[in-house]
Amino acid sequence: MKKLKKIISLLTLAGMVFSCSQTSKLTYKDMGLPINDRVNDLLSKMTLEEKIGQMNQYNGFWNVTGPTPIQGDAAKKYKDLRKGYVGSMLNVRGVKEVRAVQKIAVEETRLGIPLVIGFDVIHGYETLSPIPLAESASWDLEAIQKSSEMAALEASAAGINWTFAPMVDVSRDARWGRVMEGAGEDPYLGSKIAKARILGFQGTDLSKENTILACAKHFAGYGFAESGRDYNTVDIGTSTLHNIVLPPFKASVDAGVRTFMNSFNELNGIPATGNSYLQRDLLKQEWKFDGFVISDWGSMVEMIAHGHAKDLKHAAEIAANAGSDMDMESNAYVHHLADLVKEGKVKESVIDDAVKRILKVKFELGLFEDPYRYCDEKREQNVIGSKEVLDASLDLAKKSIVLLKNQNNLLPLKKQGQKIAIIGALANDKTSPLGSWRIAAKDSTAVSVLEGLNAYKGNSIVYAKGADVALGTPDFITEVKINNTDKSEFEEAKKVAKNADVVVMVLGEHGFQSGEGRSRVDIGLPGVQQELLEEIYKVNKNIVLVLNNGRPLTLGWADANIPSILECWQLGTQSGHAIAQVLYGDYNPSGKLPMSFPRHVGQLPLYYNYKNTGRPILPGKDVVFWSHFQDEKNSALYPFGHGLSYTQFEYENLKVHQKEDEVHVKIGVKNIGKLKGKEVVQLYLRDLVASVTRPVKELKGFELIELEAGEEKIVEFVLTNKELGFYDNKGKFIVEPGEFKLFLGGSSKTVIETSFEIK
Ligand code: BGC
Repeated sequence: MKKLKKIISLLTLAGMVFSCSQTSKLTYKDMGLPINDRVNDLLSKMTLEEKIGQMNQYNGFWNVTGPTPIQGDAAKKYKDLRKGYVGSMLNVRGVKEVRAVQKIAVEETRLGIPLVIGFDVIHGYETLSPIPLAESASWDLEAIQKSSEMAALEASAAGINWTFAPMVDVSRDARWGRVMEGAGEDPYLGSKIAKARILGFQGTDLSKENTILACAKHFAGYGFAESGRDYNTVDIGTSTLHNIVLPPFKASVDAGVRTFMNSFNELNGIPATGNSYLQRDLLKQEWKFDGFVISDWGSMVEMIAHGHAKDLKHAAEIAANAGSDMDMESNAYVHHLADLVKEGKVKESVIDDAVKRILKVKFELGLFEDPYRYCDEKREQNVIGSKEVLDASLDLAKKSIVLLKNQNNLLPLKKQGQKIAIIGALANDKTSPLGSWRIAAKDSTAVSVLEGLNAYKGNSIVYAKGADVALGTPDFITEVKINNTDKSEFEEAKKVAKNADVVVMVLGEHGFQSGEGRSRVDIGLPGVQQELLEEIYKVNKNIVLVLNNGRPLTLGWADANIPSILECWQLGTQSGHAIAQVLYGDYNPSGKLPMSFPRHVGQLPLYYNYKNTGRPILPGKDVVFWSHFQDEKNSALYPFGHGLSYTQFEYENLKVHQKEDEVHVKIGVKNIGKLKGKEVVQLYLRDLVASVTRPVKELKGFELIELEAGEEKIVEFVLTNKELGFYDNKGKFIVEPGEFKLFLGGSSKTVIETSFEIK
């Protein structure tokens, strides 16, 4: 009996051991367990240093966009990687490179936690779609989502599983070079586009091999850098913060974005990276964001220059406590967080919270099941530059073009029997149309306008450069040198123009004149191009001006003199084909401006949703005491939402019907021209009297429709509290009773209006 008992107890012990080892097997590696359990289990096995390692992101070994990080040498980085002190890498790309670092993380570190691999897939990876500002001009949410899907497809095939996009910073200042990366000046349009881009990148299942993490950036206020000078101070009131800056970020959370990036700027005296109101109170608590926040490049160390942290250790303390979960290249966390925890300056619970967020996202990506799921050379070869990706890029490029002006129907061009002169260095440029943020795209891979036009055979086409825009070969890092003097090829261009039926002039900014660190005080045509335009005009007035640029430009002279102007931004890989198809009318332009084009740089910041002021109008002739400029109008040259078509649309029969808390709006839109075309029907509201003053107009709905010649459609909108309310100065969303004006039209310069009352 004794023996039996002993055997039983031995068996029980063995059973316990067995079930213990079973439990330890039922760990983070068990795909069957809920993600939160796996995260908790893994966390419980990690040392403090390993946890902090997850909060550390290192750059690959090229393309430094900011001040060089301390001790950032490759040897030290690899050593850290081997110890498990790196949670993520950026700028490592291509299956071979990614596999190599992932292998170290997975096979050589104690716990084998895979890396998340980040990259700036801002408007495509190797195949580029239009720059984000251009895409936004399409107002075509489906096409925008598709373009992000294609970007994710290519990037994921190159080993990347995280993009630092979309940039959802609203900006009203065209001097700021980074307007090219965003959706323009409007929070409503910006929110819709943020959602489309996030859904495109992330899809519905992050664990699929062709979806990647999105990142809403830069949280927050970066687009309001004073005088549009990049990295500059941001000081804005609560009303602008809550009603203009934050909505696209909130929309990103609602769309399920898994990561956020904070920003370089200080916001009302506190650097965003160390701002716990933004990251903890708002984002994580109020909005319930359960993904993680990465700092911007070196933005932790920059808190020293801001005058907010006394040294790197202090910066680490502030950033961690404020809710920055991962350090991009400040080396602040990897060097100082462990000591800060030991000294009690940062609680271990703060570290645990950050690490849980990071691990959770890694589990969602399916990296623990297969850390090499983005590392398939065959897929890389087949997907990058595939027809599917190129077709989507062309589709969106056409849709992004905005017809600013078209006098006497000079456009579309006739396809046969014309002598066409093409003038401007940008017409023959295969690199500049790729725009800024094109790290993985190879030089000279865009279709030029000249190539696009030459693909049509019916006309005689002669090209003359006229003048260079930039000198040398501009790059991502250094200042672009503009040609301000060399006009030696003007005469040749004039000769060519003189003999032509139509002159197509391709002018604008070089692709690297916008983007990060690329602010300008003069936003006219750079260099000698304005002079070239005026010289050509002297010999032939039949000019179509094709613009390439990454920001709104001042185009007063062109608007007054040139019959047709086509805003073609930087349209990416398929640029020239898209432009040619619009010039020849194979695609009827449908784009609308996402940002106001000023008459003069001195008007900036300029935006359609301005406040009325106490002195909006001229009280009497020649009296100066009203809100205006002596030497320029207040209004934009081309307002937000503007964009023509080769056909025309008429708005009629506006009907408003109130039903409980909703306002139902119906408007008839008719194509009264001779061609099939698309129109973006735009709805704006004005809350006439409010406890916090409201703008003269705010976009609150839009719909992209296509109409055959002569066809009419009824477009319907439903306005709810979401559209009728606003954030008060405490950041609380409220709806106030009172009278509202409602406007509709094909631009913010609306054509039909009515009013209604909210009781
Ligand atoms: C930019 C970010 C970008 C990061 C990584 C920074 O300079 O502000 O938008 O994602 O670099 O390249």
